[in-house]
Amino acid sequence: MILITGGAGYIGSHVVKEMALAGHDIVILDNLSTGHLAAVEAVKSLLDPHPHAGTIQLFIGDCGDEALLDTIFRQQSIEAVIHLAACSLVGESMIDPGKYFANNTGQAIHLLNIMVRHRVLRFVFSSSAAVYGEPVESPITEQHPTHPTNNYGLSKLMVEQMLPRYQDSHGLRYISLRYFNAAGADESGLMGEKHEPESHLVPLLIYRAMGKRGNFVIYGDDYNTPDGTCLRDYVHVSDLASAHRLALESLDRNTSSSVYNLGNGKPHSVLEVLAAVSQVAGHPIEYRVGQRRSGDPAVLLASASKAAQELGWQPRYASLQQIVKSAWAWHTSPHFSSTSFNH
Ligand code: UFG
Repeated sequence: MILITGGAGYIGSHVVKEMALAGHDIVILDNLSTGHLAAVEAVKSLLDPHPHAGTIQLFIGDCGDEALLDTIFRQQSIEAVIHLAACSLVGESMIDPGKYFANNTGQAIHLLNIMVRHRVLRFVFSSSAAVYGEPVESPITEQHPTHPTNNYGLSKLMVEQMLPRYQDSHGLRYISLRYFNAAGADESGLMGEKHEPESHLVPLLIYRAMGKRGNFVIYGDDYNTPDGTCLRDYVHVSDLASAHRLALESLDRNTSSSVYNLGNGKPHSVLEVLAAVSQVAGHPIEYRVGQRRSGDPAVLLASASKAAQELGWQPRYASLQQIVKSAWAWHTSPHFSSTSFNH
């Protein structure tokens, strides 16, 4: 049985689907602050036709709730933990750093301590390219210096830095996965990204194309890039999910702890993403160019060859068109509209 924290969230629900389809029984722990009950229900419905899929149980609560965690670890035979539960708004992390240090770093410490107490010693950690900060070389390999420029990245890096200490003292084995720009949605159209407030490029462009929001603003077109807008490495959420499965399988094989970048290694500018959304929508998208957003590096590009070589990770939805098309299918589906917040 695998404990997946944040399993009702955007990336988490795709990881739950991936792991359950691989035959694992899943316990989700999610406080539903940004996750959706509907996402869990969607995954369950997707597993129905698969006789060998694992089961899914949902516990609603925080990772810092030691009593609840203790109950889960006592009652369920948890073999490993995939930890995704976190706050992930970069801007908010600069206004309220304490929220990020308490929620992302502090709660991870509680979780790790309970794991050690129950001798559950395999851990897959959802980390971020935000741990690198302003790139000093591109593409970014895992050896790149880590100097996060925002508190979200710092809250993740602090957990990464603690993990080897848990390994030395308690024998914990871990894999940290540093996601670049997660986007796209499950091919069923039953689950995908739904944040409030939304700050990510692909959903904002889709909302604009659907006429659901006013002006779309490009944050700066005076960067030192081919079209002047920022370059990012967009990676499909289902490909992120498969990396979690491979990471756990790698820990099962007793391989050593490690850190991996997850990206496609292909840079796409804001204007290219806008064009891709406009193509799927079938009409142009109005926009205006505004100021740069503070803290945005010009280019964030992954070298993910380590994940390819060591984990055997091969993205299935590597093109921007596939990523945008799947996101569009989700945002225009009735399931998107019926997925409400906080339940
Ligand atoms: N952008 C716009 N207009 C918008 C929104 C975004 O021009 O309205 C641009 C941004 O400036 C950036 C690109 O679109 O160049 C992508 O922006 P996102 O907000 O979608 O993503 P980020 O690259 O800022 O952030 C992502 C993850 C974070 C992570 C960060 C660093 O969402 O969780 O990468 O790895 F911390």
